[in-house]
Amino acid sequence: MLQLATILLTVLGVFTQINIFSVKYPDKLICAVRGFSVSIPCSYSYPQDHHVVQKLWCSMNSNTDMCVNPPYVYNSSSNTKSDFEFTGDDKSDCTLLIHNVQFSYSGEYRFRFITNVDKGKCTGLPGVTLQVTDLKVSLIRLSGNGTLKQGDSLNLRCDVNCTHTSSQFVWSKNNQSLNTSGPVLHFPAVTVRDSGNYTCTWKTGETSGSETISLHVEGDAAQWKIWIIVLVTAGVILIALVTGAVIYNRRFVHAKQQMEDDSTIYANIPQNKGACVSFANVQQQQKGFAIYANVR
Ligand SMILES: *[C@@H]1O[C@H](CO)[C@@H](O)[C@H](O)[C@H]1NC(C)=O
Ligand SMILES: *[C@@H]1O[C@H](CO)[C@@H](O)[C@H](O)[C@H]1NC(C)=O
Ligand SMILES: *[C@@H]1O[C@H](CO)[C@@H](O)[C@H](O)[C@H]1NC(C)=O
Ligand SMILES: *[C@@H]1O[C@H](CO)[C@@H](O)[C@H](O)[C@H]1NC(C)=O
Ligand SMILES: *[C@@H]1O[C@H](CO)[C@@H](O)[C@H](O)[C@H]1NC(C)=O
Ligand SMILES: *[C@@H]1O[C@H](CO)[C@@H](O)[C@H](O)[C@H]1NC(C)=O
Repeated sequence: MLQLATILLTVLGVFTQINIFSVKYPDKLICAVRGFSVSIPCSYSYPQDHHVVQKLWCSMNSNTDMCVNPPYVYNSSSNTKSDFEFTGDDKSDCTLLIHNVQFSYSGEYRFRFITNVDKGKCTGLPGVTLQVTDLKVSLIRLSGNGTLKQGDSLNLRCDVNCTHTSSQFVWSKNNQSLNTSGPVLHFPAVTVRDSGNYTCTWKTGETSGSETISLHVEGDAAQWKIWIIVLVTAGVILIALVTGAVIYNRRFVHAKQQMEDDSTIYANIPQNKGACVSFANVQQQQKGFAIYANVR
């Protein structure tokens, strides 16, 4: 029993000894959106009686020899400003923050540190692979065609070209966060009030990136056009009706007057026509002149 405990302790001791110089990366694969920042988390350790003299980050894009020789994207001994910023410390944090990520930055990154003690050096292998992608927001029409109109159905979809296990999509409209998550924003029937700037933000523990799309729903303008057409048409019809009525009325009055005139003429007709006068009077509506002529 005691022997087993001793063996265990020895194994533990050896294990600890081996790990006394170490570099650890919590994430082996990290995705970043072009143009945004990403941090590469990293921790390191070394014996307490040593102290670190140089901290280095190298990229396998430019470095081919285990990070032992230059070039480095970060060298704590040289004071150069670049997109590669060390945000760690001298004790245990070796996090690298990369600003304004470019496609050319994709590749494997390794941390190396050098202590004041001979052979007290260590490169963390294998490193972390950085994948650079674009964030794309697209509008997918589910109904309708041409300009967006009220009632059209659509999706706004956020695409990122990498598989990250714990990522999150957050949407906002005109810079105000929306109560939805997930890569797709669904609109069953858009209204004018849905118009605006929609931003998709993609977040992981190490980075975030966002992309905005502008949505313009044509509603009021189109409706106004329809209303104007309807009103104009109605107006034209009304004018036509009124004009028609006036013309008809004038003709009718004229005819009536003519009729009255004719009646007067008839009244002057000698009474010997007897009962026939009224009958003739009715017919006279059309043939007034003829009858009148006959009478004459
Ligand atoms: C880091 O930079 C300093 C100053 O330029 C240089 O002296 C040193 O050799 C560099 N480190 C390595 C490991 O090349
Ligand atoms: C849009 O509508 C027009 C006519 O309504 C049709 O010819 C055309 O194919 C449609 N386009 C799409 C992409 O649906
Ligand atoms: C996603 O990756 C594939 C293959 O690497 C590439 O063809 C495609 O263009 C990429 N799409 C975007 C949006 O970056
Ligand atoms: C959006 O809101 C953030 C803070 O929430 C602010 O920093 C930023 O300037 C705003 N952008 C616009 C365009 O209003
Ligand atoms: C947001 O969603 C949560 C649950 O999904 C709900 O409880 C909450 O009331 C919503 N808030 C608004 C403003 O819609
Ligand atoms: C949307 O963005 C455009 C350009 O970035 C800007 O001109 C416009 O005012 C924005 N609209 C709203 C409603 O914020």
